[in-house]
Amino acid sequence: MSGIVRLDRRAFMRNAGATAIAGAAGLAGVASPAAAQGSGGSTSSTSIPRLPDGRYDFDTPYNRVGTDCSRWDGPALRYPEGVFKYGMGVASMDFECAPCITEALHERVQHHNWGYLSTTQPLRDGILKWNGERHGLDLDPASVVISDGVYPGVIAALRSFVPIGNKVLLTTPAYSGFYGMARAARVDTVDSPMLYRDGRYEIDWDDLEAKMTADVRAIIVCNPQNPTGNVWTEEELLRIGRLALEHKVVVLADEIHSDVIRAGHRYTPFASVPDEAVVNNSVTFNAISKTFNLAAMKNAYYYSKSPTLLARVNQYHRAELSTLGVVANTAAYRDGAEWFDQANAYMDDNHTFVESFVAQHMPDVGYTRNEGTFMTFLDFSKVMERVGAEEKAAEGGDTAEEYFRDWLTYQSGVYLNPGSSYGTGGEGRMRMNVASSRQVLREACEAMAAAVRNV
Ligand SMILES: Cc1ncc(COP(=O)(O)O)c(C=O)c1O
Repeated sequence: MSGIVRLDRRAFMRNAGATAIAGAAGLAGVASPAAAQGSGGSTSSTSIPRLPDGRYDFDTPYNRVGTDCSRWDGPALRYPEGVFKYGMGVASMDFECAPCITEALHERVQHHNWGYLSTTQPLRDGILKWNGERHGLDLDPASVVISDGVYPGVIAALRSFVPIGNKVLLTTPAYSGFYGMARAARVDTVDSPMLYRDGRYEIDWDDLEAKMTADVRAIIVCNPQNPTGNVWTEEELLRIGRLALEHKVVVLADEIHSDVIRAGHRYTPFASVPDEAVVNNSVTFNAISKTFNLAAMKNAYYYSKSPTLLARVNQYHRAELSTLGVVANTAAYRDGAEWFDQANAYMDDNHTFVESFVAQHMPDVGYTRNEGTFMTFLDFSKVMERVGAEEKAAEGGDTAEEYFRDWLTYQSGVYLNPGSSYGTGGEGRMRMNVASSRQVLREACEAMAAAVRNV
């Protein structure tokens, strides 16, 4: 590990309160700055672990504590008493990133000048090739616009398609960020709660259509759906798309999780559904920031087969790219596929691990089998009832799920995201991130099980 990283970690601990982090460290066993000196914390491009059979090593915990990362350092700030041990919330992976990314960044930082970029062509080439090879999507290069995040693209689209005070429709539970995007665009949201049937979230088609009133001008179709993990079928996408077309609602397809698909499921790009009019009524937003854990490298793109819709989004959009973001993303598109395929298989196994762990050790917790994403949406409503979350939350002005987030952190050290931030239908649910080493995942599950057993 470089001296710079060590120094930053110490500085962060000073600022954040060393007690909180030391508390996390001792108990989690992997989250200590000391552990970072070992196999899990190296940042050298030559030391990224490969197992003897050539596979990447996702099993060795990689210490992120003290790197100003929101998944681990955010909750440590929230619970300064040191009760926090396991950051299982924010949607970022704990794995050391693909070596090709570190190598490309390493090479670029040897040149010490950071003026404006001249071209994003290699990045564009990477986007087109990735979509073509992995998703069978033949994108017209002229239809692809590079962005610095899905947020800025969707906000621009909302500004363009939804007059201030009009509405965007969401099938809920839905990613909490959509509410923030709507606020930023000064538009309102309408929830169409999904139905929970036979262990899967399903769209309530009657409700969805009823909600497509004249003041609803856009719908966000999240595929795979965060936080429920649905990977929408072509048939489902077509049905949403035809309803939207009929009611003059533009489809904004957020496909940021599109690479993280579990075995047995298939991602269908909205732009590939077999109805030209439906496709022409849509704009798709995507990135490889979930695929390669590049969220803070600020890079994404959007495209539309309709030049008119594309031009309307462009009116409100300006990408603010950074050199390192472009370098990292370009390298990932070009050389990262093998790393990601292995990471995806590992996360798939993590889902299976959580599924069987919950069935065996937390029978009161409801499990929904994910089809995609590395998040899982657990139903803690029975436990919440036993701890009186509803009544206790009302005293403090929190939602029951926010109260339970704190309760769980104090009782087990595990920090999850409260279901109430995902709109209607999030009641009683908590979102958990499974993109960690199996050891960290197992420890977090065991700590939760012990806490839940005690009530
Ligand atoms: C569905 C969805 N859309 C968008 C984002 C954020 O995208 P970005 O960081 O590119 O703005 C996330 C992050 O978790 C997400 O889950």
